Amino acid sequence: MTARFPKERLAVFTLAERPDLCAQLFSAEIQSGLPEFMRHDPAAALYFNDGNLDRYLDFAFAGVDREHPDRVIARAFSVPFAFRDGSPDRAELPDEGWDGVIRWAHQDWRKGRMPNAVSALEINVLAPYRGRGIAQLMMHAMRDNTRARGFADLYAPLRPSDKHLEPLVPFADYAARCRDDGLPYDSWVRTHVRAGAAIVNAVGPIRQVVAPDAPSLRRYLVIAPVKDGKPGTPVQLQRP
Ligand SMILES: CC(C)(COP(=O)(O)OP(=O)(O)OC[C@H]1O[C@@H](n2cnc3c(N)ncnc32)[C@H](O)[C@@H]1OP(=O)(O)O)[C@@H](O)C(=O)NCCC(=O)NCCS
Repeated sequence: MTARFPKERLAVFTLAERPDLCAQLFSAEIQSGLPEFMRHDPAAALYFNDGNLDRYLDFAFAGVDREHPDRVIARAFSVPFAFRDGSPDRAELPDEGWDGVIRWAHQDWRKGRMPNAVSALEINVLAPYRGRGIAQLMMHAMRDNTRARGFADLYAPLRPSDKHLEPLVPFADYAARCRDDGLPYDSWVRTHVRAGAAIVNAVGPIRQVVAPDAPSLRRYLVIAPVKDGKPGTPVQLQRP
């Protein structure tokens, strides 16, 4: 087993603190950590593109190995949004998950609405550094930042790491499954629970919509519930 990465060796900065690290956060090496489909979500532009990221510099993080202080080895993103602030459309977490909180944050900015909660969006560790507890340290940094800025709650629309290995198991059943020691079965769910998280919503269909950048005749992702052993109505389509 690979040794844990020493906590004191990891320095975590927000982009507001270290704007010089911004380009590295989007290097090909770190981008390749995400599955291909995650790189084709149109909602992502409302957070990352067209200057939008400038509004979230206090909520975007670079993890640096102090022994190589100019090398980013992990990144994390989060976004503040208004939740349960009395608006009827904000009483429940969005079915659209990751897309939903980004769109809400964007609307909040346009309407001048004050955010009162934060959502995690991503933690991404460079491949050679994985399995050493760095994600956990990044999560703690995000949690501490949320608290330090006066937000009570940090939500995370979670994509359990190994759900794709069991496509026919209902999402809620998979996310709630525990090991004999009582901790969640899925390693990514487990990491969140270890950091103090509770599952507050695992009932909705998967609603994150991804689309290719250029038109294509190939349609390669359909998620549909199984009914009587046959695929039911799709809840997610990868559009041509
Ligand atoms: C998911 C990811 C962030 C985990 O980072 P990490 O630094 O390796 O995670 P940690 O070392 O803190 O370990 C977290 C848990 O995952 C488990 N884990 C780590 N690497 C694993 C692997 N290769 N296979 C199975 N489990 C693994 C660990 O055992 C740990 O759980 P446990 O201690 O309860 O057993 C990392 O794999 C990654 O960057 N993936 C690409 C981006 C991504 O998918 N991010 C998640 C969605 S935003």
